[in-house]
Amino acid sequence: HSTQADVQASRVQVELSQNRKPRPDPANLSFGKVFTDHMLTIPWKASSGWGAPQIHPYRPFSLEPSVGVFHYAQCLFEGLKAYRDETGKVTLFRPDMNMERMNTSAQRIALPAFNGDEVIELLKQLIRLDKDWIPNVPGYSLYIRPTMIGSQPVIGIAPPSEALLFVICSPVGPYYPEGFKPVALYGTTEYSRAAPGGIGAYKLGANYAAGLIAQKEAAKKGYVQNLWLHGPEHHVTEVGTMNAFAVFKRPDGTTEIATPPLDGMILPGITRDSVLNIARDHVAGKYKIAGLPDKLVVSERQMTMREVKEAAQSGSLVEFFGTGTAAVISPVNKIGYLGEDIQIPTGPDGMGPVSRPIWQQLVGIQTGIIQHPWSVVVVE
Ligand code: COI
Repeated sequence: HSTQADVQASRVQVELSQNRKPRPDPANLSFGKVFTDHMLTIPWKASSGWGAPQIHPYRPFSLEPSVGVFHYAQCLFEGLKAYRDETGKVTLFRPDMNMERMNTSAQRIALPAFNGDEVIELLKQLIRLDKDWIPNVPGYSLYIRPTMIGSQPVIGIAPPSEALLFVICSPVGPYYPEGFKPVALYGTTEYSRAAPGGIGAYKLGANYAAGLIAQKEAAKKGYVQNLWLHGPEHHVTEVGTMNAFAVFKRPDGTTEIATPPLDGMILPGITRDSVLNIARDHVAGKYKIAGLPDKLVVSERQMTMREVKEAAQSGSLVEFFGTGTAAVISPVNKIGYLGEDIQIPTGPDGMGPVSRPIWQQLVGIQTGIIQHPWSVVVVE
């Protein structure tokens, strides 16, 4: 509707925090428990569109018990990171991708669309205010959590007539307490994460709620995460909340890096896309990565757990890993599958021979060591 306002960064109202919290010691950070001094809130009403954005102290919301998010899971979220280098330069990694996906998620559950460029502008303002919260320690960053909820105080089930877009920020270190240590996965066949036409390809809170029981049961059996195996053929889909990658040695001497295709059941991960792009640019000779095999084949294709198991047992599986914003690349050393533990090869420090150089390139871009258009400057 042309009569309804889109998000306008220029309308922002800023209320500064009067009592700045102490900065946490990076050594004691665990993921997502500490939040910075400020947050961003943008209200939306079906009748008028997006209201004035507000940057204000981090604080609780006051919401009626009847609001849509509490009853019908009208909730989506994003995750992206800001990095600070030793000169004080602060960068964001591919924020346009998060804004695009956030709009796609919103569309799926009838929440409102918005102008992503305007929200990126507001994110930059928020990060500039709280930039000294970003630990300048390798492996550490500021995790930014944009969220949108249905906030209409009505328990009739309908597309939301009111919504709130908000953003909070949390200084973080390595996602797993194990650091880069490889993790053991439990192959989940009793639950599915996604179904054709469902919501698995969207970053909705409901997906993560429905995934927790599989994670809990995997942990009870002694594994760190679960591996989602879909359908009667046990297709490899995702690793807990991460995209899944396998690397195979092929009889023709090539090395294949493979991940399931975006068939409507896979979350279009930004780390997933970045790993694929880095590998493809290497293959095309556009951006050679030292250490990556020359004869590399990059595939988005289905793979069954049986294929992975047979490759592991015949020696043609090179490595298996998960990718996500939070953990970046998470190597796997074992998969529990139908009562058997399948050993997966890992490199000397966890990451294997293909993921390691890709990870190095990715982290180099993210931290601003490598110049790349994916890195967006927030503070020069
Ligand atoms: C990821 O970054 O891998 C995520 O999916 C976010 C996680 C904290 C739920």
